[in-house]
This record gives sequence, structure tokens and C-alpha cells, in this order.
Amino acid sequence: MPDNAMYDKIVGSHLDALKRTGNYRYFLNVQKSAQSFPEFTFADADGHQKTAVNWCSNDYLCMSLDADVLQSLVRVAEESGAGAGGTRNISGTTVHHNRLESCLANLHGTESALVFGSAFMANLGALGALGKAFPGCVILSDERNHASMIEGVKIARCDKQIFRHNDAEHLESLLRDLPMERPKIIAFESLYSMAGTVAPIQEFVRLAKRYNALTYVDEVHAVGVYGRGGAGLIEQHGCAGQVDMINGTFAKGFGTLGGYIASRALLIDYVRSFAPSFIFTTSLPPALCAATLTSVEKVRSRSGLQKAYQEHVRSFRRILREHSVPFDDNPSHITRILIGDAMRCKAIADTLLHEYGAYLQPINFPTVPEGEECLRLTVTLRHSVTQMRHLAAALAETLASMETE
Ligand SMILES: Cc1ncc(COP(=O)(O)O)c(C=O)c1O
Repeated sequence: MPDNAMYDKIVGSHLDALKRTGNYRYFLNVQKSAQSFPEFTFADADGHQKTAVNWCSNDYLCMSLDADVLQSLVRVAEESGAGAGGTRNISGTTVHHNRLESCLANLHGTESALVFGSAFMANLGALGALGKAFPGCVILSDERNHASMIEGVKIARCDKQIFRHNDAEHLESLLRDLPMERPKIIAFESLYSMAGTVAPIQEFVRLAKRYNALTYVDEVHAVGVYGRGGAGLIEQHGCAGQVDMINGTFAKGFGTLGGYIASRALLIDYVRSFAPSFIFTTSLPPALCAATLTSVEKVRSRSGLQKAYQEHVRSFRRILREHSVPFDDNPSHITRILIGDAMRCKAIADTLLHEYGAYLQPINFPTVPEGEECLRLTVTLRHSVTQMRHLAAALAETLASMETE
């Protein structure tokens, strides 16, 4: 028998350290309602039911609530059951998986696409497998890349070089020092999910061509929300067909769950054949694939949806400005208020929730580096102007009162 007390003491000390720095994670038990979203109920510490507005959901276009998406989910669940019952190779590939993959390839104008359990798993599998494919490969990775890309690079076990965030000059200086014939992959996000910054996609694509590198782009927060039919920022920046592999998710702009890559047929076949996070896991339920297909098709068919959403974001920011709420003026839909201290960030979020009914999850380490703790605000298509005004006033009062404490 192991000495549990010894192991528990060590684990407990790690948790205590998190609590001391304000980085311990407290989950709010959100009673999500398809009818009244973004409003929801939760029980406070005394067990009283309270109502609040969710300002941190990634369901940007509210596709998780769409009646047609829900209908597909229920219909195919009744036809096919709740789960796939196998990995893709062992009875887990259905017509719904195949249709979804064709639709995604179509969306991005690529030859092929491959669905994973999540975009996290897609980044692990695709980057890990690609980095292993080419002898002597080096992955050039943006310093702000998501944890799933960082883990994917680790799995690849090849050389890596980190370039400064969105810095084409720094990337070029690293590329210049590498032999032309050495295999290289430039890995970046089109839109950074915490700071809301947008990569110079055209510039990076140009460098990739010039220095003979492949490009791997995470479009997780951009698909559905930007580009024609929701094809993402690569399309919006005029680079469709010029990126070697795109990673996307269903869990944000498309409102369901799962991830994918889109690329040339040969690269997709390679990842399909070599990526453990694709091979050794049960495939997504057919009903979820059907619901996602409905969502992607619906987003594609609603002309002006992306523009309407951006206009909504602009209204939100106008209202924040009217209330003198300070935020980073980035070119995306993600609005960040930098706080820079974990304890203060949590205190502000607690006040907003309990005194104003505004739910903003404080974003702390390791999601952002220490010192960059922030409030991350996301407006969805269902947030009303009245709700925006209420939040702006609550933020103005709370930030002012916390500053003087
Ligand atoms: C940039 C980025 N990539 C990948 C992921 C993983 O996406 P998924 O939720 O589909 O696993 C996230 C998740 O939040 C993300 O922000």
C-alpha cells in the first residue's frame, strides 16, 4: 500500500500554492437555458437561486440554440443512438461523419477535411504527426499559441523556435537562418482567443512561400464568425488555398462540439493514418455530426451573418466607450479588459456577478501569462442593447470602486 498521506500532502501543497496566488479555479455552476440565453440561473453560496447574464460564452452566433441544429441532433440521436460506439476505424465512421467532412472541405476550399473529438485533439494530432513526418523538421511557433498547439509541438519531438507574437520581422529573421532545404512548419493562430489580436496572415503566408515552409493555422475563434460563409480569417484576408493546414472547432462559432483540420487530401490521409489523438479515441456521435453539419450549412447560407455580428460587437464597444470602460481596441470580436493581478481580477468578477448579475470569468494563469490577468468579454447575437448598457454601467462602477480601494 502506498503512503497516501505523503502523496496527498504534495498534491495539496500544489493546490495551496495556486490558492495563494489567486490562480485557483472556481467553477460557477451555470444553469444554461436555451430559451433565455444569455440569461441563466445559478445558486449562490447560501443556496439562493440567482439570475445573471453570461458575458463569457464562445457561442458567438448562438448556434447551440438554433432550432434546426437541435432538430438534427434529436432526429439522428433517435435514429442512430447517443454514441458512435467505436473509433473511426472500428465501426465509428458513419454517413454523418463523411458528410460533415465534405462540407468542411467545401467551406475552406480544400481537398479534404478530418473531424476530431475537439480542436484541442486536432492540434495535438496534426501538429504532432506533421512535425514527425519530415526528418530534421523545425516548427516555428508564435509565442502566444494556444496550449493545444504547444502540446502538439511537444508531441512532434522536433526542433522548435518561438517567434514574438504576430511579429513577421522576427519570424523572417529566424527563417533566414535556417537552410532552405530544411523542412519547416510555421504554426500560428489567425485570431488569439484571449487578447483578441489578429495575425498578419498574408505576411506569414508570403514568408512561408519565400522560405519553403508549410503553414499550420488555428482558426478556432474565427470559423463561423469571419470570412465568406464563415470560412474564417484566412478567407477574409484573401489567403484561401494558400495555407497548408487549417484547424477549426465546432464548439464556438458553430455551437456544438468537436474539431477538425482541413488540407490537401494527402496531408489529411497522413494525419488520419498517424495521429494517435485521431486513431485511438471513439469518434463523435453521429447525431452531433449531423447537428454540426446543419449548423455549418446554416451559417454558410445566411448571407450577412458575419457582418451583422461584427456590427453587434461595434455597438457593444460603443456602449463601453460611452461609459468610459477601458478595453483593448483590437480588430476582433473579443474584448479584453486588462487587470494584471489575479486577486483583483477575481474580486472584480465576484462583484460583477453577485452585485450586478454579470458573469465574466476572470482569466488567469496559465490561460494567460502572469501579469496579464484580464476580464474577457464576448458578446453574442442574443445579447440585447439593454444588457450591454447594464454591463457597461456595472463595469464602470466596479472598476472605479476597486481602483480606489
Ligand atoms: C486557440 C484555440 N485553439 C484550440 C482550442 C481547442 O478547441 P476545442 O474547444 O474544440 O477543443 C481552443 C479552445 O478554447 C482555442 O482557444
